[in-house]
Amino acid sequence: MKKFLSTSLAAVVLTVAGAAFAAGPAVDNATFEANKQKKEWMSQGGEREEALTLKPDVKNGRDVYEVCSACHMPEGWGLTDGTFPQLAGQHRTVIIKQLADIRDGHRDNPTMYPFALPSEIGGTQAIADVSEYIAVLKMNPDNGVGKGDDLELGKKLYADNCVRCHGEAGEGNAEKYYPRIQAQHYEYLVRQYRWIKEGKRRNSNPEMVEQIKNFTDRDTLAVLDYVSRLKPSADLVAPKGWKNPDFQ
Ligand code: HEC
Ligand code: HEC
Repeated sequence: MKKFLSTSLAAVVLTVAGAAFAAGPAVDNATFEANKQKKEWMSQGGEREEALTLKPDVKNGRDVYEVCSACHMPEGWGLTDGTFPQLAGQHRTVIIKQLADIRDGHRDNPTMYPFALPSEIGGTQAIADVSEYIAVLKMNPDNGVGKGDDLELGKKLYADNCVRCHGEAGEGNAEKYYPRIQAQHYEYLVRQYRWIKEGKRRNSNPEMVEQIKNFTDRDTLAVLDYVSRLKPSADLVAPKGWKNPDFQ
């Protein structure tokens, strides 16, 4: 009942504040369609740049996250089979970039797109808010990993090809929008990596694409198995079985 009330109340507030919330897509249709034709790692202007300047309201971030939790789970841990990525602990800048890219057509995500629209979660401020909420969630202590049968090769490939951007332990780099990839679900890593390599993930970093262009399938699986086992620093990880009290 409480939930029903707060939802209908939110609907009323939304209607009243209608002018403040851009209804529908984040960009007009023509811009969205044009962006869908582009391979562009860093778009200029738009919601990314704006969201980074806004002061996040974590309390609203929690409210926004309710929609996201249906797929990314209340803890932000995603699913071990990689259908939904872990978001917990990701750099705020990276979350902002990916959300803005999905909303304006730079990254395809048909499953999530309708739930990420301004009419669903609010405008650019909502991106700033939910990204802050997610970034400080503690990470999954038990993410999906690969088979573990080619880790020596994976380790070497990682050192030679990935460390300079994703860091020694896969911690990424917030300032440069390099994602944290340590302890991410293996199957998700494999899917994204292949899409980046093949150009299907259109907002990928061209230097990374260049770096991995000669990777064989064996190389790919070995390096990502290794990545999935890289450990974040202990203070970023939740105890086993932790449940997010915000959604109990
Ligand atoms: C209906 C399910 C669904 C909902 C709801 C959803 N997502 Fe997602 N999200 C996905 C899927 C699936 C992917 C991975 C898509 C892919 O493989 O490219 C994803 C990817 C992402 C990514 C990119 C992660 C990365 O590592 O690059 C971010 C950030 C994200 N979601 C944030 C959110 C936020 C914030 C919300 C709530 C406003 C949300 N999602 C709601 C399904 C969902
Ligand atoms: C030149 C810097 C650079 C190098 C080298 C690089 N990456 Fe990346 N990587 C990036 C950036 C930037 C992104 C995010 C691109 C975007 O915004 O869509 C990314 C994204 C990824 C993703 C998707 C993460 C997610 O959350 O969706 C994976 C997996 C990945 N890199 C793995 C690797 C591995 C493994 C290597 C080495 C074999 C590597 N990268 C080398 C910069 C780099």
